[in-house]
Amino acid sequence: PLIEPAGGAPAEATPPPPAPPRSMRLLRKERDALRDEITAGRRIGVQRQHALGKLTARERLDLLLDEDSFVEIDMYRRHRAHGMGMDDRRPHTDGVVTGSGTIHGRRVFVYAQDFTIFGGSLGEAHALKIQKVMDLAISTGSPFIGLNDSGGARIQEGVMSLNGYGGIFQRSVRASGVIPQISVVLGPCAGGAAYSAALADFTFMVAGTAQLYLTGPDVVEAVTGQRLSHAELGGAHVHATRSGVATFVHDDEESCLEDVRYLVSMLPGNNLEPAPPGPSSGAADDLRPRLADIVPVEPSEPYDMRMVIAELVDDGDFIELHETWAANVVCALARIDGEVVGVVANQPIVLAGVLDVAASQKAARFVRFCDAFGIPLVTLVDVPGFLPGADQEHAGAIRHGAKLLYAYCEATVPRIQVILRKAYGGAYIVMDSRSVGTDLSLAWPTNEIAVMGAEGAVDVVHRRELAAAADPAALRAELVERYSRELVHPHYAAERGLVDDVIDPAETRAAVARGLAMLRDKREEPVRRKHGNTPL
Ligand code: HXC
Repeated sequence: PLIEPAGGAPAEATPPPPAPPRSMRLLRKERDALRDEITAGRRIGVQRQHALGKLTARERLDLLLDEDSFVEIDMYRRHRAHGMGMDDRRPHTDGVVTGSGTIHGRRVFVYAQDFTIFGGSLGEAHALKIQKVMDLAISTGSPFIGLNDSGGARIQEGVMSLNGYGGIFQRSVRASGVIPQISVVLGPCAGGAAYSAALADFTFMVAGTAQLYLTGPDVVEAVTGQRLSHAELGGAHVHATRSGVATFVHDDEESCLEDVRYLVSMLPGNNLEPAPPGPSSGAADDLRPRLADIVPVEPSEPYDMRMVIAELVDDGDFIELHETWAANVVCALARIDGEVVGVVANQPIVLAGVLDVAASQKAARFVRFCDAFGIPLVTLVDVPGFLPGADQEHAGAIRHGAKLLYAYCEATVPRIQVILRKAYGGAYIVMDSRSVGTDLSLAWPTNEIAVMGAEGAVDVVHRRELAAAADPAALRAELVERYSRELVHPHYAAERGLVDDVIDPAETRAAVARGLAMLRDKREEPVRRKHGNTPL
């Protein structure tokens, strides 16, 4: 083209430099180089991560997912923040690797935070990436797993970080009871990130490297003057024994991620699917005489309920939740004749198996999980009652016990109760009694179902007679014997239809398996309402 210079003769313009030749080969090479750079990460960051005893986000996904199954989404995403030194620091991925893969061949959606980029902190783009895979998990009905390793809300992005968390929490709540959600804490999980762990159905932590808290030790010291280490404030041990936030604790990332895979193998993809069945184990004809040896006849003699569960379930294999928190109740997932069940059981070797605040919370949440995902409940009862005392009453034993009561009353999945020995008072009612809706109640000949134990009952009802007696001990023994004979004999509840059958302990596995088969087609529509008002 000719350009007319002002006031002069037309002149030839300088031609632009020739464009580099475009070829698919070159474009692919550039693409591959960038992808390699993104997936390799910054060497120094990777080294630091390894030096801290942690794996990188991609190494973790390799362990979690089936080989070569990971499909990454949003690898190129970068933040759009300005100021605070952010304009010239725009790493791809924005500190989180997101996508989908399979576990034992079944689809899951995942994110893995990358601590080597902005400390895995969550800014706008990081949050939008997580939200995108959450939406896909919900719309495809697939479990959602978050691998957390993050300093929390990205300080440089201010309110956009907080907004990002809000969007994640909102989705997590929408997904609750629709798809299983699993949080795995593999490093710091500070501030907002902690709620992702609390909202999930299951939270894994790795001892030594994982910390979970709303405010870190520095803030705690500034506000309260108390100096605590990261582990003391929010380490795996604290959350596994005291707060109840951690469902599972592992010593290393490899075993942790392996167990996540195992857990996923027991869970349905969503609330409309059944949990994956295992092979039939012939449980319906399987007699277990050892059960009668494990459980002593004397009601106050302890035994380990986990040994009973191992006899009842296929291959003696079960996943126990919250093993070291509220251990007076055992909550476990297992299979019976191939079918996944949730087992709730009193544990006589811890606090004699009483129900207390923590045990009620633990069991209530588990019952609700099983009910939401169509997993039948098997409740093993050997309970002396609720733990008495001012501490418990003042800590809200009534409110928390009501959670468990509410959860059972509301559950529409197949429910089987097995009463091994004692079942006293309110704890009997709560532990899936006929009155709160169990479908099948079985009892051993050692069952003792009553308002309270014989001794306590006699002391209340016969207080005056005992005080006036010439030989109170002899009278007491006689009254205790009469109370037991008349009110708590093994067939008392069965005669009244509150127990459906009194079974030989050896038949328990077979009877439960037959009960599950009988109840397999149970359908019960919940009452139509917006939602109930669970005593939170
Ligand atoms: C931006 C962050 C960050 C954050 C860490 N980094 N946390 N960047 N926002 N929240 C960056 C650091 O600047 C550093 O960057 C890199 O990540 C590694 O951090 P270090 O401190 O060097 O690592 P370490 O010593 O291992 O300590 C990790 C840590 C600590 C314990 C997580 O960084 C920390 O205390 N961070 C703040 C935690 C916190 O209070 N978060 C709450 C945010 S408020 P360079 O460039 O040096 O590598 C929140 C509210 C949400 O989340 C509420 C929603 C309900």
